[in-house]
Amino acid sequence: MFEPAQRMLHFHTSVFMDLRALKEQYEIAHNQNTIDFSLGSPNIAPDPKIMESLARAVEDPANYQYAIKPLPALIQAIQKWYHTRYDVELESGEIALLQGSQEALVNLPLLYCNPTDGILVPDPYYPVYVDAPKLAGAQVIFTPLTKENDYLVDFSRITAAQRKQAKMIIVCYPNNPTGATAPDSFYEELIRFAKENDILVVHDNAYSELVFDGKRGKSFLSFPGAKEVGVELNSFSKTYGMAGARLGVLVGNESVINQYKMLKSNMDYGIFLPIQYAGVVALEQGGTTIESTRQAYQNRRDALVRGFQSAGWKIPLSQATMFLWAPIPDTYKDSVAFTKALLKETGIIVTPGESFGPEGRRFVRIALVQDEQAIEEAVRRLKQTEFFVTKK
Ligand SMILES: Cc1ncc(COP(=O)(O)O)c(C=O)c1O
Repeated sequence: MFEPAQRMLHFHTSVFMDLRALKEQYEIAHNQNTIDFSLGSPNIAPDPKIMESLARAVEDPANYQYAIKPLPALIQAIQKWYHTRYDVELESGEIALLQGSQEALVNLPLLYCNPTDGILVPDPYYPVYVDAPKLAGAQVIFTPLTKENDYLVDFSRITAAQRKQAKMIIVCYPNNPTGATAPDSFYEELIRFAKENDILVVHDNAYSELVFDGKRGKSFLSFPGAKEVGVELNSFSKTYGMAGARLGVLVGNESVINQYKMLKSNMDYGIFLPIQYAGVVALEQGGTTIESTRQAYQNRRDALVRGFQSAGWKIPLSQATMFLWAPIPDTYKDSVAFTKALLKETGIIVTPGESFGPEGRRFVRIALVQDEQAIEEAVRRLKQTEFFVTKK
């Protein structure tokens, strides 16, 4: 037996293993499928032009070399995207390409944190926000996101000692898992807070294009002073349906980007060129699906909230993302107990909120990854089993 390193003691198999066993039991006992709202993987196809350009580039033997330098056409397309979409000017030295934004979420704590340094992380959080600090040996300091504060970070609750310890703050709006967005005043306060306390801001903008009800997502970098204090992550995964064809960007503060590129130059050989070519096409011509994708998620959100409410489960409308953050009835001990009961009785799978942090104990996350027909079937099962009638 090989003894894993001490840092591996922080990692455990998740509640998803238990849920998988319950899923199998349900399918055998009821001879019907479960309806899975747990995984946030986008299931809306990319624009055909993106897939065609990828297929073409894959046929070219020249594209199988190491891609140490990014494609100039991709860097230019990113500059144009940030200019036209967010009114942000980026120099090429302010852009690093990523194999998905997850990559930088793992590496940034390694780059900036020593073992006693803290990272301010929202609670509830996207899981890698706490897993990456564990790998880096840094300390996680939670900033609770509560319904009462519209799921925004409350800077007044961050103590003097926490401000002193923190090297970095991670924020994410539109927010996974709560579906909240942030007003302009929040970003202004964030930049003031970062300047005053000398803290690096990492803004995760993965859901920038999935904002509902006619509103538009913004870039953190479009606020005055942002580039002095931070960087932004953006992703092709949700916007262009390219989650498996890994591509993302880290943009903003040049010294951070330089450090990042330096680390990467020691670690990897760049992004498969066909994916970079597909990225250019996505930015230049692949935006045709953005509006229909957003509309599809908004329709699912509306159908699910309306249908589940008619079955007795009142869920607030999310403002953005592909998620609903749903409160659980008081009768359950916690969100794991609720999730197991829901799966056992109805075959509906959601994610327990506490897998996103302590603030999630009385919530579950519902990913809008099922079409309207599956949502109708879920509503039918909730009604048929009277799941919420008896257990309010
Ligand atoms: C908030 C958030 N950030 C980052 C990511 C990672 O995205 P990518 O595919 O760009 O690595 C996800 C993926 O679900 C996410 O939900």
